[in-house]
Amino acid sequence: MFESLKSQPADKILALMQMYRDDPREQKIDLGVGVYKNAEGVTPVMRAVKAAEKRIWEDQQTKAYTGLAGDPAYADAMIGLILGEAVPRDRIAAVATPGGTGACRQAFELIRMANPDARVFVSDPTWPNHTSILNYLGIETVAYRYFDDETRGVDFGGMIEDLKQARAGDVVLLHGCCHNPTGANLNMVEWQAVVDLINERGLIAMIDIAYQGFGDGLDADAAATRLVAGSVKECLIAASCSKNFGVYRERTGLLMAVSADAAQTDLNQKTLAFLNRQNYSFPPDHGARVVTTILTDDALRADWAAELEEVRKSMLGLRQQLADELQRLTGSDRFGFIAQHRGMFSRLGTTPELVEKMRTEHGIYMVGDSRMNIAGLNARTVPILAQAIVDVGV
Ligand code: LMR
Repeated sequence: MFESLKSQPADKILALMQMYRDDPREQKIDLGVGVYKNAEGVTPVMRAVKAAEKRIWEDQQTKAYTGLAGDPAYADAMIGLILGEAVPRDRIAAVATPGGTGACRQAFELIRMANPDARVFVSDPTWPNHTSILNYLGIETVAYRYFDDETRGVDFGGMIEDLKQARAGDVVLLHGCCHNPTGANLNMVEWQAVVDLINERGLIAMIDIAYQGFGDGLDADAAATRLVAGSVKECLIAASCSKNFGVYRERTGLLMAVSADAAQTDLNQKTLAFLNRQNYSFPPDHGARVVTTILTDDALRADWAAELEEVRKSMLGLRQQLADELQRLTGSDRFGFIAQHRGMFSRLGTTPELVEKMRTEHGIYMVGDSRMNIAGLNARTVPILAQAIVDVGV
């Protein structure tokens, strides 16, 4: 049986992670996988996470199963964090999932179940695993223009033109904030125009929000998701706690299905629970419990938000330092976009050949489409990267 297996295409991000690990050079710089690193190159366990884990260790009396949807207190806490008061709670069905990837996977399964003819419109580019999972599930994808190679901002005209090709019932996958892989984001006027288009054409919005708190702050980063959820009839929201709580390996995500009215929510909730049961039964609990403990305790929540804010500001500082250094070396403002982008990533906007050259000649690892993880830098490595960018001729 196994002889008939065909090897699957390697995930670009994870393959790069392995190449970096195998590289013996001491001066190598990892700007690949989207993991936050502090100035010492460490991905720390956040203070509030440690404190919550200690509390759970002391208080938890059982490891018996939770429910198929996970602990309802986790869903409530996350809905509050992401949506605030944007949508009445009785219109939201929600299940815990293994990370943001699990939430996306379950959302795509739900789409296929509810409307097998739906196509999913994805930004060009998007997180590669979006298209990988959609292809795996046999769901048709259509790319819409997103990144403007000239300005390194959003090609909003192209995006709207392409979304006008969507038929009623098609799904538009949007990044709630901190677009991965480009770092280029819509402003709120543009978000409103997308919402209007979705409503005019009867499209379904799906939001992937994996970096809340990494861009302009916890509330600012949720503003677009709140606008969409509060203005469309129905939508799906896939959320991740991997980055903003730093609980990557705990696989902590949430999928929300917002329905047109409360009467639909029960069926949505049961369907999401069914999908969890088919795929893995009970979602992981530890990360979700840590997140719930933090979000429901004023002191822990304040400490978590403060540490997240330090992380966000350190990335903004690195962006500015890199843009300034490139300005100094090139005497031009053409890299100013790095300071304008938001979140963990920036797309440099260069060729795979030059990305490869940076890896072989300078030991700098970025994804082949020239996505850089800004959090992989520190004050010492910024000038090294800037010099390499100039040396290879970006
Ligand atoms: C990334 O984009 O690097 C992260 O979301 C990690 C992953 O799973 O790809």
